[in-house]
Amino acid sequence: MSIDHLSKIPNNVQLADDRRLQRALEKWQPGYESWWRDLGPEASQNMDVYLRTAISVDPGGWANYGYVRMPEYRWGIFLAPQDEGRLVNFGMHKGDLAWQEVPGEYRTDLRRLIVVQGDTEPASVEQQRHLGATCPSLYDLRNLFQVNVEEGRHLWAMVYLLHAHFGRDGREEAEGMLERHSGDSDKPRILGAFNERTPDWLSFYMFTFFTDRDGKYQLASLAESAFDPLSRTCRFMLTEEAHHMFVGETGVGRIVQRACEIMREHKTDDVRKWGGIDLPTLQKYVNFHFSVSLDLFGQELSTNAGNYFSMGLKGRFHETKIKDDHLLTDAAYKVPEVKGDQIAMTDASALLAVNERLRDDYVVDCQRGVDKWNRVIENAGIDFKLTLPNRAFHRRIGVFSEVEVTPDGRIVTWADWDRDHSRWLPTDEDRVYVGSLMQAVTEPGKIANWIAPPAKGINGQPLEFEYVRFN
Ligand SMILES: [Fe+2]
Ligand SMILES: [Fe+2]
Repeated sequence: MSIDHLSKIPNNVQLADDRRLQRALEKWQPGYESWWRDLGPEASQNMDVYLRTAISVDPGGWANYGYVRMPEYRWGIFLAPQDEGRLVNFGMHKGDLAWQEVPGEYRTDLRRLIVVQGDTEPASVEQQRHLGATCPSLYDLRNLFQVNVEEGRHLWAMVYLLHAHFGRDGREEAEGMLERHSGDSDKPRILGAFNERTPDWLSFYMFTFFTDRDGKYQLASLAESAFDPLSRTCRFMLTEEAHHMFVGETGVGRIVQRACEIMREHKTDDVRKWGGIDLPTLQKYVNFHFSVSLDLFGQELSTNAGNYFSMGLKGRFHETKIKDDHLLTDAAYKVPEVKGDQIAMTDASALLAVNERLRDDYVVDCQRGVDKWNRVIENAGIDFKLTLPNRAFHRRIGVFSEVEVTPDGRIVTWADWDRDHSRWLPTDEDRVYVGSLMQAVTEPGKIANWIAPPAKGINGQPLEFEYVRFN
């Protein structure tokens, strides 16, 4: 697939051959650039940042690294290569050739799916825009900016689909992406978790671990779509997304490691006294970010999700690796329900339960990361275990939104919840404490006291490398 690097919008979709589309996207571009200036990373306009830029979709080498001023980042449109004979793998169109155009009857639903996904991309950039001022190291600052520019590119990816396949409605939706803003009371972002603040770096790592991982599962199921351009777009986005989750997993892991070092060095549980973030506080942040991210998967049983599946718009995680008929007309799937003061599992229609199945896959993946953090604690010889709270804990969407549940899965009264929730979720005091640690460290090779250095640098560079230059 040939890549056009030189035109105003780098792309591998032969944009130059479609002048109307090219003009429409070039008209959207200045609005995007001013959005980045106004709501992208604060005070970063003059920094030179050691970033990777996508230059190809070849798995062997798709990016190059170099210093970039972020407003000049080469955001582009990159789709994974087209597989000519690709078939629809699930739903009522199973066995047909994948669609290169949007079928008229699915236009509204497909547009909605793309808009909801697309809206999350700039939202997280907005949520994270103040973090640069308190970075724990240049390495971390660079990673934050890498995540930010790539979320910007993911917005481009979705806007391309809207412009290329949805006519005037698509162009209006593309404008809307720049008009809604995270936390804006008049025009908020579409999904709740994307209107929360990301006030400190602990929240940032938790967000990239838990919430970007929701993104991974959403993208992976959209990558199964019968609508081939959407599938190809999402497949390439997933390549970039992997780094975001790496940032989260290693970020939390390094905070865990630092807490353990302090505990051993000073023979104490009072990690805060030595300026670290203690393990019980980390547990509270895990509880919070895991539960709000679980909500992003939607209702346990969803007619919409079942319809999207039957229509071939959105599949399951690794659809083709699942051994069943991929139609789900008679299949059952276990979903949780609330029965009196108990949580029970019950058989439901697998078709209606595709959200819950995706949530199940997600939970397994989260547990894998938590296990890694626990190995750090174990290796330090410390008797403490981080755990994922029960999925019913602190939920606002689905069957558990009506009840209050402890992290270990007991349904409790509102009065109990009121009395005890400060043991399970970050309190104002916890947040103030974490906030008090957030002081910028910008000398190359230096790192804040509350986090351990990374195991290695970026792209083979040492930790002392000047990942960001201030001008
Ligand atoms: Fe993204
Ligand atoms: Fe991401």
